[in-house]
Amino acid sequence: MASDSSTPVPQKFAPSADFSAQAHVKTVAEYEAMHKRSIEDPEGFWGEIASDCHFFKKWDKVREWNLPDAKWFVGGKTNVAYNCLDYQIEKGRGDHTAILWEGELVDDKGEPTDVRKFTYNDLLRDVCKFANALKKMGVKKGDRVTLYMPMVPELAIAMLACARIGAPHSVIFGGFSAQAIVDRLEDAQSTVIVTADGGYRRGKIVPLKKNVDDACGMTDLVKTVVVYERTGNEITMKDGRDVWWHDAIEGCADTCEAEHCDAEDMLFLLYTSGSTGKPKGILHTTAGYMVFAAYTAKMVFDLKPDDMYWCTADIGWVTGHSYIVYGPLQNGITTIMYEGAPNHPDWERFWAIVQRYKVTKFYTAPTAIRAFMKQGEELPGKYDLSSIKLLGSVGEPINPAAWMWYHEHLGGGTSPIVDTWWQTETGGILITPLPGVTETKPGSATQPFFGVDAAVVERDGTVLPRGSNGLLVIRQPWPGMLRGIYGDRDRFIKTYFSEIEGVYFTGDGARFDEDGYFWITGRVDDVLNVSGHRMGTAEIESALVSHPRVAEAAVVGFPDELTGEAICAFVTLKGDSEASAGLKDELRKHVATQIGAIARPKDLRFTDALPKTRSGKIMRRLLRELATKGRVEGDITTLEDLTTIAAMNTKDEE
Ligand code: PRX
Repeated sequence: MASDSSTPVPQKFAPSADFSAQAHVKTVAEYEAMHKRSIEDPEGFWGEIASDCHFFKKWDKVREWNLPDAKWFVGGKTNVAYNCLDYQIEKGRGDHTAILWEGELVDDKGEPTDVRKFTYNDLLRDVCKFANALKKMGVKKGDRVTLYMPMVPELAIAMLACARIGAPHSVIFGGFSAQAIVDRLEDAQSTVIVTADGGYRRGKIVPLKKNVDDACGMTDLVKTVVVYERTGNEITMKDGRDVWWHDAIEGCADTCEAEHCDAEDMLFLLYTSGSTGKPKGILHTTAGYMVFAAYTAKMVFDLKPDDMYWCTADIGWVTGHSYIVYGPLQNGITTIMYEGAPNHPDWERFWAIVQRYKVTKFYTAPTAIRAFMKQGEELPGKYDLSSIKLLGSVGEPINPAAWMWYHEHLGGGTSPIVDTWWQTETGGILITPLPGVTETKPGSATQPFFGVDAAVVERDGTVLPRGSNGLLVIRQPWPGMLRGIYGDRDRFIKTYFSEIEGVYFTGDGARFDEDGYFWITGRVDDVLNVSGHRMGTAEIESALVSHPRVAEAAVVGFPDELTGEAICAFVTLKGDSEASAGLKDELRKHVATQIGAIARPKDLRFTDALPKTRSGKIMRRLLRELATKGRVEGDITTLEDLTTIAAMNTKDEE
């Protein structure tokens, strides 16, 4: 595997003349003029962009901004599912494939045994049927519907059905545990869950229904569980509560009028980790999110009618919401959905899919790229990847070596790479190259998208010039921005709008280089990014202390070659509990049961005491040093008890 130090990295990569010539935006001058207008006249700019979408009633005002509250397309009436389906059909795309899905299972020859194609007409029919089924169950506009499903087309169908009737969805990633489901259900006060008997992952069955049953055992909120049959594993169905998906849609009409939603009606909640407390329900509304998802998808991936576009994310994360479902479908193209793991049955699976469907645009995460690098370049080399025209990266900083590997082995040395920076909160991509225009620098997300007024500032809000490192903020609202944290106005204001006055604070640090390019340096709060997945240290700590033998826990991140960042937990035990390898395993498992496998600490160390300041605050900086270098060499003058660090420095790992 090429390492960062051994790979000489040319400074900039310009898009090829051929790519630029066919792109939506072709020249730097065009980008600059459009960007300038989008900042100086956001209402004019976004009003024009939104005119490409379908509104039942046009807005009265494009934008209202009363920090921290943004409203977009005020007074407009629209429906996101209508825009994804009916509107595409009206434009003549009815027989075009909307979703091309490949299941994880393969036959003896390695060929997929489950492939399903849905045209826009098919998808509309199935969405309407399920929308009618939801209505029959009593789901009404405004009711939150929880979706805990594997990567099957029915997940997208359920989302669109919710959107069609104006019932916000709350998708929970299928890797989360029963406890995590309960936390989200209760916060959203959601009484209906849609799940599946199981999901396939690396050839094994993930017991989704069982997890839902366990969750229902911890709360009496849930009135209805809809179960899609995917794996055929044995499950129990509770009378009066559980209903099979196929029974629920039985007899339902295949047309369903789309609700005329207000522009600011809630479209979905998506829970994500913060630096304190439980996950927060990020609230997105209808018209602004819709317009932003459609337009960013079109411009960043340079979408064209015949694209075979594949985003490898799970729909349980925001990337899947915006760039598997809502963005691509509004562009009338084919969005590919793959059910399983990148290494099932082997590490060639992704390249086989690219070759099989002649994928033109491919969007994945740096962690995946690094995992592929480890397997060797000969694997993609065995496949015809010449259909690829553009590559995308998301979720974490991409190291230059991974960027170069992506460029050479997947992009044939010519396809532009869009390193897209954004967040669950931003709804869509905010900092990114435009593929026909931007000269890319490996490792930099480059420049702000249209309407995005990004800056790097100091804690006191002072805007820093080019060539500086600082905190990344956005100074004007954009259509896709979050409208709140569900049920927690104070946390919304405190997290995003009070640390730095007058602007949206991203929680990320960034370098603003001499050319005006942004380089994201990572989170500056107590949020970790493991394989592009966000984890709050507080959440993992509270999972650990919920174990009867744990007295106190502190969690930090440390660099990991594969996952970007990995989790290290420092744990002190109660009374006479003895530290042992067995207990260490037990605690790591305990975290996985409380949250999900992605939160399982890679490293767990027992310690007699945690390093604290005199005011009792855990000194995470010291723990990070310990986790990374094995010892603390930095300043420890504010430490309350110097002996703790002395002990940790010398103590062998248990
Ligand atoms: O730290 C940034 C990192 O991921 C965080 C957002 O995580 P989440 O809400 O889960 O959304 C991930 C998918 C959009 C950011 O605060 N991040 C995301 N994209 C990049 C990134 N860091 C560096 N480069 C990126 N392209």
